[in-house]
Amino acid sequence: MADITDAPFRYLCESFGADVIYNEMVNVDAICFRNEKTLAMLKRYKSKKPFVVQLFGNKPENFSKAVKIIEKECAPDGYDINFGCPAPKVLKNKCGAELFQDLDLSRAVISAVIGATKKPVSVKTRIKAGKVDILAWLEHMKDLPITAIMVHARKLSQGLSGPIDLKTLKEVKKKFKGIVLGNGGIADCQDAQDMIKKTGVDGIGIAQGCLGKPWLFKELKKKREKRKDEKEVFKIILKHARIHKKLYGDNMMPMRKHLCWYVNGLSGAKELRKKLVEVNTYKDIERALKKAR
Ligand SMILES: Cc1cc2nc3c(=O)[nH]c(=O)nc-3n(C[C@H](O)[C@H](O)[C@H](O)COP(=O)(O)O)c2cc1C
Repeated sequence: MADITDAPFRYLCESFGADVIYNEMVNVDAICFRNEKTLAMLKRYKSKKPFVVQLFGNKPENFSKAVKIIEKECAPDGYDINFGCPAPKVLKNKCGAELFQDLDLSRAVISAVIGATKKPVSVKTRIKAGKVDILAWLEHMKDLPITAIMVHARKLSQGLSGPIDLKTLKEVKKKFKGIVLGNGGIADCQDAQDMIKKTGVDGIGIAQGCLGKPWLFKELKKKREKRKDEKEVFKIILKHARIHKKLYGDNMMPMRKHLCWYVNGLSGAKELRKKLVEVNTYKDIERALKKAR
């Protein structure tokens, strides 16, 4: 998730059992220009599980150049191509779910990435964008050696919420010979079991469900939910903040959103959130949490 799954958060998800870790999507043009901020997004922290770099753009030649650069920067275990992003600025540039609607260009982009690496290449798509549905899209790509597909089982017009189309996801599982991962609306064990049972997908992708709850991965694996108390949540918050400080310095502003998500559901969350949206340093977080106890 853009602006969310940076190295510290990825580390927490991994430590709670996520099997494959994706970075925030990176723009291939920015990688080719060696944009510092974009290159910094490739930073890894103690990652042991397969780490996949997700790319977005629309110029096949820049995808292949970017892969060569990324290989030297962080040697990921695979590459994923974004065909699902609904953000207006991404669509306007014919990337994400807009690129999905151009079958020939989608093909050219995938071929460029596959041609630039020996590592597995996967794609992230939607059920439908504009007039193109996923089954027609896959038909157009069927001879390409794509290792895996993660389908966000919503149409582009739904954005990031609303009902999940498990029926079409099941069709994708029948049609695509590689690994099929389902995504969308997984917030608890029931959602995960439902998706797996009703579609037969090989795995699931977690997004908004793990915001402020990286331990969701553990719950899903154990098929059991366990509410964390304040003490446990605060411990995880401080661990997250310490890794953030280690990697990015003592500026906790980017942590504020995580802090607000973490305290959701705790008693006194409303008051605590007012303090957490003002923290600037690690010490500020420590102080805010101490006062709350
Ligand atoms: C803030 C935010 C950022 C996202 N960034 C990305 C991204 O960089 N790449 C991607 O494939 N999907 C991205 N997504 C979409 C999610 O991966 C996922 O497909 C979508 O949220 C549906 O899953 P969910 O209902 O479990 O959240 C993002 C979603 C959110 C909310």
